[in-house]
Amino acid sequence: MLFLRPSSSLLIATTLSLLQQTIADDAARPENTTVCGQQVYTIKERKLIFNPNAWNPNDIGFQCISVQDEPPAFDAMWSWSMDSVSVHSYPHVKLVARALPAPLSNITALRLSAKWSMGIGSQPRSQPQLPIDFDGLDAQATTANVAFDLFADPDDKKAVSETEAANEIMVWLGQFGYSYPLGKAVVNVTVGGVDFQLFDGRNQRGIHVLTWVAVKAVPTFSEDISPLLRYLTDNKLVSLDTKIGTVSFGTEAFRSGGNVTFSATDFAMGLEVDGVLSDDYTGKNGGSGGAGGTTTQDKDDAARSLGAPWLTAISVATAAVGIFSVLFI
Ligand SMILES: *[C@@H]1O[C@H](CO)[C@@H](O)[C@H](O)[C@H]1NC(C)=O
Ligand SMILES: *[C@@H]1O[C@H](CO)[C@@H](O)[C@H](O)[C@H]1NC(C)=O
Ligand SMILES: *[C@@H]1O[C@H](CO)[C@@H](O)[C@H](O)[C@H]1NC(C)=O
Ligand SMILES: *[C@@H]1O[C@H](CO)[C@@H](O)[C@H](O)[C@H]1NC(C)=O
Repeated sequence: MLFLRPSSSLLIATTLSLLQQTIADDAARPENTTVCGQQVYTIKERKLIFNPNAWNPNDIGFQCISVQDEPPAFDAMWSWSMDSVSVHSYPHVKLVARALPAPLSNITALRLSAKWSMGIGSQPRSQPQLPIDFDGLDAQATTANVAFDLFADPDDKKAVSETEAANEIMVWLGQFGYSYPLGKAVVNVTVGGVDFQLFDGRNQRGIHVLTWVAVKAVPTFSEDISPLLRYLTDNKLVSLDTKIGTVSFGTEAFRSGGNVTFSATDFAMGLEVDGVLSDDYTGKNGGSGGAGGTTTQDKDDAARSLGAPWLTAISVATAAVGIFSVLFI
């Protein structure tokens, strides 16, 4: 670095002026950037990639995303007034971890966190007001979901490719209008007090899509979802050597009669491989407020939420047949 002799007052003065310079530069940097269509916005130092991802647009609609750098947050504004059976865009943030791709056999914890809101119009809903305007969305016949989207494949290269991966594993936190998961219902599983129903299907491109749908909308979520992954491998729906390659959080926008705004904050991933927390993006530098990585505190929380005495008993009993912490309803 520059400052070899910090005792020199000249150097201290230089340091101060450089510091001021840095602060000025930071202030000058756009703090709220809007990108639309297929443009991408990256916060490099936080390793976050924001993408409006209008991959199937039509002329009568749009998809934009406004990104705030610090603390990271985004608002996704959209309208697609035609064709309620197709996804037109998936505005999202991609969460990056050094340990990806990681084999399902080695993932000991995967904490996913996010807070979100959804309503009509072009303005984000102000929190802590009711985060979801169910009536407004309904009146506009809005069809959309809110989901973590994971791509996975036994091959490293395919695992990180959303077009080549053999498997897509989704965790839906919200479901509006006519957005239904692909395939047939398999089982109901509870993780940390959230009830999920699993659907097993295939999309038009032949990708095996496994969707865990929260039975009720969950606008604040922070759970270790590894029991959901373990259910898939224990039941041979996905092979143990399959690697999770990408993880993102956003909303699949199908159709709405007017503008819709989806807002997300506190998104984070805490990936633990063979018991070691990956050096990854965590929302608040190490997981305070439940938004970050799988710290000891988080693990304790996860253990507590999964460890109601009766549930522990089920876990112990089912461990013998290779099923862990899964509640069959
Ligand atoms: C970005 O700025 C717009 C306009 O001021 C505001 O409505 C929106 O909430 C901001 N978005 C974020 C994520 O800060
Ligand atoms: C996964 O676990 C196996 C068996 O313990 C080990 O050989 C392998 O190196 C691990 N792979 C990763 C990517 O951690
Ligand atoms: C919907 O959003 C677009 C793009 O921001 C804007 O031009 C239009 O006025 C909005 N429509 C309504 C009814 O708010
Ligand atoms: C799973 O949950 C869904 C939604 O609450 C419910 O309709 C369904 O009956 C449940 N399935 C089983 C097998 O209990």
